[in-house]
Amino acid sequence: MDLALKHPLAFVPTMGALHAGHQSLIELARTKSTNVLVSIFVNPLQFENPEDLAKYPRDLAGDIAKAESAGATFVWSPEVEEIYPADPQIIPAGELGNKFEGVHRFGHFDGVLTVVKRLFDLTNPEIAVFGEKDFQQLFLIKRMVKEFELPIQIINAPIIREPDGLAMSSRNVRLDFDGRSAATIISAALTEGAREKSVTKARAKIQKVLAQEESFALDYAEIIDEETFELATDETNLPRALIAGWIGGVRLIDNMAVCR
Ligand code: PAF
Repeated sequence: MDLALKHPLAFVPTMGALHAGHQSLIELARTKSTNVLVSIFVNPLQFENPEDLAKYPRDLAGDIAKAESAGATFVWSPEVEEIYPADPQIIPAGELGNKFEGVHRFGHFDGVLTVVKRLFDLTNPEIAVFGEKDFQQLFLIKRMVKEFELPIQIINAPIIREPDGLAMSSRNVRLDFDGRSAATIISAALTEGAREKSVTKARAKIQKVLAQEESFALDYAEIIDEETFELATDETNLPRALIAGWIGGVRLIDNMAVCR
């Protein structure tokens, strides 16, 4: 395969269904290089459930237009066979792959690391941009890059929020009117937790705020150490709160630096 890519290359891997959050990643990539590659590949390996994979929104023409308007200079939408020839090397996410997001999504992070490694091998970017919205994914990708000694600089892109605080996500459109309004409880809990001076107090505050919204079914609300992804203590330098849960059948995740 010859993609005729120009270097230095800043790469933004996506699964399509692009929204303003993705466009901010592309804009950030464009500040790092005049050559910006966006891939659109719905990775079958990171879906535990074939129905979710089949239901995943696909709008290639719309995605290409959004990617280009944000500054992409090359949009690549490979076929499954291109990414996964027979017997791809599976990259295991290890223990952390089974925690937090990994608890209910068996094999998800192995699938993410496997596709990202494959995409990197096929494109050899100097820079790759990933959103902080999927903080555990970002952490695991950084660790993989270190372990394989890949010469790629991974850049964090901050979470883009709606004016009322809700983190942008392709899933938000699936919320009905009441769900959309209830969903602001997640960023409200994070914002209030962030103001606390200690991790212990922030944990308690986040739980208290989330409990105010009956329609929110919590999966987890934890504060981790950004550097290790272990649970944070009051002594942790870089604590970050993570929340995941359900509103009206839609699963939402969000996170925020706290107690800084
Ligand atoms: O975050 C995503 O959209 C995906 O997990 C990624 C990184 C493109 C891998 O398929």
